[in-house]
Parts: sequence; structure tokens; C-alpha cells
Amino acid sequence: MAQTLPLLNPPIHTQMRRALGNVFNQSTLAALHRVAERAVQDLLDELTDRLHSGPADFVALVSEKLPIMIIGEWMGLPSEDYELLRDLTHDQVHTQELFPTPSEIATSDAATARLQTYFADLIQRRRSNPGDDPVSAWIRVWDDLDGDRAHTDAVVHSLALFMILAALETTSHLIANTLRLLLEHSSQLDLLRQHPELIPDAVEETLRYDAPIHLVSRVAPTDTVLGGMPVAAGETVQLLIGAAHHDPAHFPNPHAFDVRRRRGHQDVGGPSRLTSHLAFGAGIHYCLGNALARLEATALLSALLKRSIRLRLTGAPTWAPRVVFRRITSLYVGLA
Ligand code: HEM
Repeated sequence: MAQTLPLLNPPIHTQMRRALGNVFNQSTLAALHRVAERAVQDLLDELTDRLHSGPADFVALVSEKLPIMIIGEWMGLPSEDYELLRDLTHDQVHTQELFPTPSEIATSDAATARLQTYFADLIQRRRSNPGDDPVSAWIRVWDDLDGDRAHTDAVVHSLALFMILAALETTSHLIANTLRLLLEHSSQLDLLRQHPELIPDAVEETLRYDAPIHLVSRVAPTDTVLGGMPVAAGETVQLLIGAAHHDPAHFPNPHAFDVRRRRGHQDVGGPSRLTSHLAFGAGIHYCLGNALARLEATALLSALLKRSIRLRLTGAPTWAPRVVFRRITSLYVGLA
């Protein structure tokens, strides 16, 4: 896993991002938007059916399913593999926590090994039968760059694997958490019903209020001083994004969940500004999939609010006991 994008430094990181280009450009996003809109309708149909016979788990039925349906379609993966890939990413993420237990590390290592085999097989299939998909495209790009097939395979392998790891839990959590926060703040939900143009603002406010990734790490290349604290070369600095998002010096009244925050609490018809939250990181490692995550959450929320059903929470959500990668494991809702 040492060759994954977030662990690379310039110049290798720069070369890699340059070779990748704009992975989610306008036309790819437009195509994925159409996929998301169809997928969202299917998932909400199933949720609605289940709700007629009692409370149902939004996480199991909707938020865990949507991201793998979109990424799977984009990468051209067989849909029968989706559940396996979801399970493996849940197991793998333990090693990205601050203090994993020995058994969590063992679970994570086993999941990493299975994911590595999965993507090694995928690359071989794409080599013998290239298609119109990103894995085939990356193979062409790296083969053209240096002609070393073994190197190409190693690069594409780490890219494909990391895309899956980066995309699934984070986006699932964003979707579940947006709904949770809106159901817990019913006046905000009412506001969205009256002003659907605020839906992207609600997604941004969720990213700020409770970011899917609470912490990112950096290693100091030289002795330096950060916020008045000396940091020696080689020391790791943990950047607490979740805490920064509740800094009153930067976000007035930070503990309020307010979908109008981006508009300065003004008239909702006023201009919307991009917030300066750090949920997708910052600088050279800024999240490559941010537009896709935003697209999925917005598509889901828009479709849900257009439906006649009204939801309510039927119990407290359950959470994975983690610090770095937030994960709601169940969110039971019923018809209001
Ligand atoms: C709500 C969903 C998401 C969140 C909160 C999120 C968050 C982040 C954060 C914080 C980073 C920076 C890590 C660092 O600086 O060390 C990052 C990087 C990255 N993300 Fe995301 N991400 C999300 C969805 C996605 C999706 C859907 C994809 C791909 C399909 C993706 C692909 C990546 C990649 C490739 C990087 C590494 C960029 C680099 O190092 O150059 N992410 N993400």
C-alpha cells in the first residue's frame, strides 16, 4: 500500500497526478450522474417497499449500496462482486485508524491481500481484453510512458485498489450522515423542502459539521514550526480536521448544523460561496473524487425529497468505534 497516492511525495506524486489527468471530468461526471439517478430511484423504491412493513435500515438498503454501484459501473466491475468489495473495504480500513488492535491489523492485512489478488486479476483481464474503462485507460497511459509492463501493472494496481478504498466508506458515510443530520434537525429539512436549491449546501454543511475523515497525517520533511509548536524532521503530525471544522474563529456558531451557512445565513435566494472546510483535504493531495462524492449525495437527497414519503428516525444510529474514518453502521428510519 506504500505506493498509494496519499503516501507519495513530489516528484513522483506530481507525475502520477499529471498522468491521471482530470479523472472525473465533465463528461465522465455527466455519465455517472445518469447512472446515479437511475441507481437512486431503484434503491429508494426498495426502501419505500420495505418501509410499508415497518422501520428499515437506510445504511444497508441505500447508503452502503450507492457508492459501489457508481464506482463499479465506472470501473466496469461485475455487479456480483459489489458485496465482496464492500466487505473487504470495511475490513481493510482498520489499519488507517490511530490505534488498531492486533486482531484488527490481522483482519485488515487479510482484506488487503484479497483486494490485491482481486485487482491483479482485473488488470490481467483488462490487458487481454481492453475496454472503455479507467483501468484499461491507465494501462495504456503507463505503457506509453515507460513501456515497462511490470511497472505499469504495479502503478495501475495501486491506483485501482486505492480508488475503491477511498470511494466507498467515505461516500456511504456522507450520504447516511446527511440524512441523519436532517432528520435530527427537522427545521433544516423543512427548509430544504421549500428550497431544494439548498441541497448542495446541506451536503457541504454535513461535510463540515461531521467530516467522514476526521484526521489526516503528515510527516515533517525538515525541522519546522507549526502553529507555534516545534516539529522535528521525521515526526508525524496528526491534523484534526473534525476539530478544525468546529473552530469558532473560522466557523461562527460552529456546533449549529445550518444548511444556510454558506450563504451567510442570508436570504436563501442569495449567492452561495464555497466553504473552506477541509473534508476533502487540501493542497497537492486534495481529494480526486470530491465531485463524484458530492454528485452522489446530492442526487440521493434530491430524489428523496421529491418523493411523497416522509421519514423519521426510529432509533439512535449505530457507529463503528473509530476515530479517523467515521462510519454509521445502521440508521433505522420509518414512515412519519
Ligand atoms: C465524502 C467522500 C470523500 C471524502 C470525505 C474524501 C476525503 C479525502 C481526503 C481528506 C483526502 C486527502 C488525504 C490526505 O491529504 O492525506 C482524499 C484524497 C483522495 N481521495 Fe477522497 N474522499 C471522498 C471520496 C472519494 C472518492 C469518491 C474518490 C474516488 C472515486 C476519492 C479518491 C481520492 C484519491 C485518489 C485521493 C488521493 C489524492 C492524492 O493523494 O493526490 N475520494 N480524499
